[in-house]
Amino acid sequence: MFNKKTRIKDLLANESLNYEVIVMGWVRTFRNNQFIALNDGSTNNNLQVVAELGKFDESVLKRITTGAALKVSGEIIPSLGKGQKIELKAHLIEILGDSDPEKYPLQPKKHSLEFLREKAHLRFRTNTFAAIFRVRHTLSFAVHKFFNDKGFIYLHTPIITASDAEGAGELFRVTSFDLINPAKNENGSINYKEDFFGKATNLTVSGQLEGELAAMALADVYTFGPTFRAENSNTARHLAEFWMIEPEMAFYDLEDNMNLAEEFIKYIIKYALENNKDDLEFLSQRLADEEKEKPQNERSEMGLIEKLEFVINNNFERLTYTEAVQILKESNHNKKKKFQYLIEDWGVDLQSEHERYLVEKHFKKPVILTDYPKNIKAFYMRQNDDGKTVAAMDILAPGIGEIVGGSQREERLNKLTERMNEMHISTEELDWYLDTRRFGTVPHAGFGLGFERLVQFVTGMSNIRDVIPFPRTPKSAEF
Ligand code: 4AD
Ligand code: MG
Repeated sequence: MFNKKTRIKDLLANESLNYEVIVMGWVRTFRNNQFIALNDGSTNNNLQVVAELGKFDESVLKRITTGAALKVSGEIIPSLGKGQKIELKAHLIEILGDSDPEKYPLQPKKHSLEFLREKAHLRFRTNTFAAIFRVRHTLSFAVHKFFNDKGFIYLHTPIITASDAEGAGELFRVTSFDLINPAKNENGSINYKEDFFGKATNLTVSGQLEGELAAMALADVYTFGPTFRAENSNTARHLAEFWMIEPEMAFYDLEDNMNLAEEFIKYIIKYALENNKDDLEFLSQRLADEEKEKPQNERSEMGLIEKLEFVINNNFERLTYTEAVQILKESNHNKKKKFQYLIEDWGVDLQSEHERYLVEKHFKKPVILTDYPKNIKAFYMRQNDDGKTVAAMDILAPGIGEIVGGSQREERLNKLTERMNEMHISTEELDWYLDTRRFGTVPHAGFGLGFERLVQFVTGMSNIRDVIPFPRTPKSAEF
């Protein structure tokens, strides 16, 4: 057996002294031919390993370079140096993997996020990305814990589907056809009957429709999986492949849905604060340093941790789309034409500049907007009695904009098919979905939370490409 290592995180948390351990990790720095800062991924805090002068062969010392992998056995002793209570006095240093300092792309200095995006295969080895991905892990664990504790069933919805849950047409096709020579119908169109699945298929944009099927028997379900959108949005908040959490609950109305979403967001943030304090403090400092580079009026009023605590401790502001449009229309921002898209009429879709104005300038807290015009929302949302709006809700977060999209679902068969016909969505292809409304239909609701946007919010990272290990965006699918 090879692995008898102790994790550096556990060593640093332990008060005891003068005992033998084995550690394995990667060299961050090597000073004075004597002091190795070793990191093993369990924490951003490095272990100081001391290679006493004269004790190790020059041939070994030469190979202790930034990025090299080591196995060290030795004794934990009190540290005389500043910055750490303990250090490891090395007895034996084994080089597991060399790292040529002339060729290793990461230098022991600060690299830009843009540079590291190009080196995404190595960026885990930096403090910033190690912290981000530990926090991402904690958040995803908290997602499962929240729903499991509430008795929800985790449902694995398909990744390959033949439907377009959002009806927006932003689909990545899935086919096993030879693209140069696909099977064709007599009229020259592609004959998907001959394709792998016998019909046209695509990567899922959302697990919601299948989630609704299960909720009609299991009552409270959630999905947490990858979703795909071929929308050509090259922004700091859009990915072509992102992870979404979609709970779906029978016997819920819009208000129940909002209550759950708000409780859920607060719970997972609190969980991260409690279980990942070191990493969040590190990221908070990183953000504070970044903010110092900005002009005064662009800096945020709160630090990262302060902001997270504020979100946990305050109610989200709830208002209707109509009220929000009124606020935006009357805002000085609109009057002084500071919005790129001016708000003039009821019915327009809100741009992220409007969402951010409401959240960051007007309310200064997360906002839940409800009852949007039906024309800018998906076919499955429950129609309100006014004939114009639907029981939708979007949650908007500071610095991010839309983080959650959800709704009460149209449970009335006739209303639903009517709307589908209006929107040219085939009732035939979604016949299986309509069965839920034919047999034992009930009021139900659900929402989707974009996981990367949540990770952005919690880590304070401004670009979504920096919170998913290997981002997929227009013209980019590296690694
Ligand atoms: O608002 P959306 O499109 O809603 C749905 O997909 C519903 N089926 C959810 C439901 O009710 N079950 O997407 C939900 C969330 C958005 O609020 C946003 O956070 C995230 O998914 N999202 C994206 N995140 C990253 N990149 C993209 N291209 C995203 N598109 C949506
Ligand atoms: Mg949405």
